Amino acid sequence: SARPRPLVAGNWKMNGNKLSARVFAAIIQGYDAALRSKVELLICPPATLTVTFGVVAVGSGVSVGGQDCHVKASGAHTGDVSAPQLADAGASYVIVGHSERRADHGETDAVVRAKALAARDAWLTPVVCVGETRGQREGGNALDVVRAQLAGSLPETANGDDLVVAYEPVWAIGTGLTPTPAQVAEVHAAIRAALVERYGEAGAAIRILYGGSVKPDNAFDLLSVSHVDGALVGGASLEAADFLAIADYY
Ligand code: G3P
Repeated sequence: SARPRPLVAGNWKMNGNKLSARVFAAIIQGYDAALRSKVELLICPPATLTVTFGVVAVGSGVSVGGQDCHVKASGAHTGDVSAPQLADAGASYVIVGHSERRADHGETDAVVRAKALAARDAWLTPVVCVGETRGQREGGNALDVVRAQLAGSLPETANGDDLVVAYEPVWAIGTGLTPTPAQVAEVHAAIRAALVERYGEAGAAIRILYGGSVKPDNAFDLLSVSHVDGALVGGASLEAADFLAIADYY
């Protein structure tokens, strides 16, 4: 089956203010016809900027996403943001189960799955994150950990473009460390196998992103690996030139 259309996504985490609309505008400006023909771009700003970015993004071809959503659509949940609210603000994707959410907020696989389903209910595409810690990698358990996270976090059904999976080894996030291409290949092949086993043919069309210290100078090594269908970029997505340089790998 054909390779899925690649997706390069930026996760701004808890960074950015209203002046950052200039960075987003520069990303849109750099998303020229050549790039458009090869790769899809997504920026996930903090919740405070979703509306602004959603407005700026109209007609640009660059998608906007949330970084998390509540499992419920509305209600008495002070401080939380729901998937329908993100959709209303102009988002079409939402990251769920990022390791920082799993660590800082105790999100379990079951919670992550519920959030992915809530996203789908609001017609958002969930980007479900998985990845092992350094200890788990050193203990030789990376594949088992990732398989268990997939088993527990993924929705029961998928048709292909209604789900994105991101492999983010926790020890590679924000550290400048990256797995070797062989390590990335091993995990991404295991994720592909799990997706095909779970969803049949649709599993071959689901984008599997690599995340963790992706920079312009390592983009080729990481993104050329088989079953890597794009990147989930943290720090390097905060500068338009760096983010576009990564996307330019395609
Ligand atoms: O979600 C993306 C992220 O966790 C990777 O962050 O800064 O290592 O690119 P960074």
